[in-house]
Amino acid sequence: MRVAAVMIMFLGASVRAVQAVDNRLLYTVPEEDSMNVFRNLFEQACINGTWKPPPPLGLEFQGFIFQPGDYKGHHADSECRIVCSWHNASDPNERSITFTTEVAEYLGARKTSD
Ligand SMILES: *[C@@H]1O[C@H](CO)[C@@H](O)[C@H](O)[C@H]1NC(C)=O
Ligand SMILES: *[C@@H]1O[C@H](CO)[C@@H](O)[C@H](O)[C@H]1NC(C)=O
Repeated sequence: MRVAAVMIMFLGASVRAVQAVDNRLLYTVPEEDSMNVFRNLFEQACINGTWKPPPPLGLEFQGFIFQPGDYKGHHADSECRIVCSWHNASDPNERSITFTTEVAEYLGARKTSD
């Protein structure tokens, strides 16, 4: 059995560990995209904040998770569990704010009902 790749990226100079919240959502990759293409689009849109409407000013990219396959690891070619997480650096609690739905819908993915 292949272990699904987990990609979590953190930017920022903060020494304090910042964790992306793990509330993954299951989406079906658009038919015209391969898993790798969709992964790159999701990663770039999440990091760059290029979805509509754009993230509010003052928020910063925090991290993303992209795992091919559903919750049982099936359908690794067409479904993925994803999170796009940002945070408010001025907020003392730096609460995570997820834009997973916004990014996925902007890229034409649809939520998988399981
Ligand atoms: C995101 O930003 C990177 C680095 O600036 C750039 O290379 C890439 O084209 C951007 N992607 C999108 C979708 O805007
Ligand atoms: C970020 O946090 C600061 C301080 O709590 C607050 O004034 C500001 O409105 C927040 N920004 C956003 C986009 O939520």
